[in-house]
Amino acid sequence: MPKFRTLDDLSVTGKRVLVRCDLNVPMKDGKVTDATRIERSAETLKQLSAKGAKVIVLSHFGRPKGKRAPEFSQKPLVDPLAKALGRKVAFAEDCVGPAAEQAVKALKDGDVLLLENLRFHDGEEANDAAFVKQLASLGDLYVNDAFSAAHRAHASTEGVAHVLPAAAGRLMQAELDHLQAALENPKRPVMAVVGGAKVSTKLDLLGNLVGKVDRLVIGGGMANTFLFAQGAEIGKSLAEREMADTARQILDKAKAKDCKILLPVDAVVAAEFKPNPPIETVAANAVPKDKMILDVGPKTVAAIIAEMKSCKTLVWNGPLGAFETPPLEKATVAVAKEAAALTKAKALLSVAGGGDTVAALAAAGAEEQFSYVSTAGGAFLEWLEGKELPGVAALTR
Ligand code: 3PG
Ligand code: MG
Repeated sequence: MPKFRTLDDLSVTGKRVLVRCDLNVPMKDGKVTDATRIERSAETLKQLSAKGAKVIVLSHFGRPKGKRAPEFSQKPLVDPLAKALGRKVAFAEDCVGPAAEQAVKALKDGDVLLLENLRFHDGEEANDAAFVKQLASLGDLYVNDAFSAAHRAHASTEGVAHVLPAAAGRLMQAELDHLQAALENPKRPVMAVVGGAKVSTKLDLLGNLVGKVDRLVIGGGMANTFLFAQGAEIGKSLAEREMADTARQILDKAKAKDCKILLPVDAVVAAEFKPNPPIETVAANAVPKDKMILDVGPKTVAAIIAEMKSCKTLVWNGPLGAFETPPLEKATVAVAKEAAALTKAKALLSVAGGGDTVAALAAAGAEEQFSYVSTAGGAFLEWLEGKELPGVAALTR
């Protein structure tokens, strides 16, 4: 991975430092329901403040599509951010223009200011040069700590990096270090666990992973498509039957690349998808016509765990079953618990991220014990696809 500057390379005292964070957190009735991204952004901001920088925090929140909208205001983030930092945080009602300029002018060394939602301006997502210039005029230095927004080539994630001296923040650094240790320069064998509903959304990801990992576990709804492609009877399971050719191509590529694929050998099935349905466990290639696959079965769990024990590195994205609906979380929980135990015993480096993954690990009580859990959803997926992330690339040029 190319080198880039970090906080260690900047002298920040008395300087105005623009820090792109991703404070795009879940919120309900004006209250943050999961402050993880805020808490994980705190380290960089604290370090800059302690060194006497004037810290100016940039973020987006939701998708207001270039228009000011009260429900997307970042004002409700001020208190949780102040709590995470253990200090006062000022707020400006706009991210550019007079309101922002005055708030920046009022800063003393060590102060922290949060600006209003970047996406209230359409120049942000358009990466518009005039908007980049306006933003950049507020700072002397730029720090990008928003790995989870690095798949977007927006003004604040990409454009500004070309205008101001740029560096990676501590969270960005941590994300990149762990992702590199997991996939670019890993201890082998490497296992990837990929779940989720659809093959079609994870084609590039699977195609990239079979060329990089030694064992690939395919679970979730997308495993049904692979089973179907192999001629299995999958009853009325959710599957993308028109993707069968593509699934076979991925299996062929895996063979050519010496990547062992683990598909379900048994499955938990039910007639209906609802909480606590009457379930039975059947062979994964012989699902009764009126039943659907909702989780992988105990034999599959045992096979995954046996393989995992011989691996040194694990990358996890997506649940193995419909984990939000009891008792269909069982396989995901069992495998996550084993990964956590192996990690604790220092036998495994475990990295997880993307969409539902964190919720699934949290449900298993395994989140804390993983070596690293990414804050990223879409950016983690694009990184697993082997794509260059514009926000990361801009830091290296
Ligand atoms: C995310 O939550 O995935 C990031 O904050 C990026 O948000 P976006 O998908 O709206 O660009
Ligand atoms: Mg997203």
